Amino acid sequence: MFSLQEKIVLITGATAGIGLACAEIFAESGSDLILCGRRASKLSKIANNIKKTYGVNVYSFKLDVRNKKNVEYAIRSLPDDWKKIDILINNAGLGRGLNKFHEDDTDGWEEMIDTNVKGLLYVTKEVLPLMLEKGEGHVINIGSIAGHEVYPKGAVYCSTKHAVDAITKGLRMDLLDRRIRVSTVDPGMVETEFSQVRFHGDKEKAANVYRNMHPLSAKDVAEGVLFCATRPPHANVNQMVIMPSVQASATQVYRKEELPAEDN
Ligand SMILES: NC(=O)c1ccc[n+]([C@@H]2O[C@H](COP(=O)([O-])OP(=O)(O)OC[C@H]3O[C@@H](n4cnc5c(N)ncnc54)[C@H](OP(=O)(O)O)[C@@H]3O)[C@@H](O)[C@H]2O)c1
Repeated sequence: MFSLQEKIVLITGATAGIGLACAEIFAESGSDLILCGRRASKLSKIANNIKKTYGVNVYSFKLDVRNKKNVEYAIRSLPDDWKKIDILINNAGLGRGLNKFHEDDTDGWEEMIDTNVKGLLYVTKEVLPLMLEKGEGHVINIGSIAGHEVYPKGAVYCSTKHAVDAITKGLRMDLLDRRIRVSTVDPGMVETEFSQVRFHGDKEKAANVYRNMHPLSAKDVAEGVLFCATRPPHANVNQMVIMPSVQASATQVYRKEELPAEDN
């Protein structure tokens, strides 16, 4: 097994959900962490808490992955010891709105494309030279089953995750002789802040997504990411699809009917 002890793991979008769960599970395995996200105060609380709980080193900074100049500056100005990044987890991402294409607003499209696709590209472009110099590395993208199939009202979100799938495959081809592994972890429904963000803070709408079914937790996905990261160097998990047991596809979910009040 590939030991994570004192390895440096960079996680984008570490202030919530899957990114935060990855931060915890990799810290528990002894990795030092570089964490980033836009909510600076949340991020610094998380960094302090992880340092205290797991005794690992954590370097954190505020970053909006959509801003190419800021991404370049943030990675290029890392202290030298922190530049020896072993694993990059491209997790930052979002869905914005769930509307028919012709009724949707283009601001949400820009946000999704700029974050899920361009942000991932900018961060990867900056980190890869550091891995190439080191002579090894592992890029793990958080894709989605939305990168394998398309669901109604999700044309643009699904297109961004199809792009993540294509980028993952292309990177793997281009890095084949460079000892840099490339994986994608593609979850189905995970209960995180994702739906609240998608519905612009509407908690009721967000809760309804997971009504009467048992979704994945962020930790379920982080455990998959950890599995990919701990394979021996000669083995690579190209793609890991993780679904709730009651979800067969993006559009087919088994929901247990609510019992009438008198039966509860
Ligand atoms: N939840 C699901 O059902 C599900 C299913 C399949 C795939 N995914 C994917 O999993 C990844 C993580 O989502 P999640 O479910 O954990 O959602 P989440 O709880 O909303 O977390 C998203 C994270 O991404 C960060 N982020 C968003 N925009 C960013 C930006 N421009 N720059 C930097 N960080 C940014 C957020 O931090 P800040 O707000 O602090 O910037 C937050 O830490 C996403 O790529 C998502 O597409 C989720």
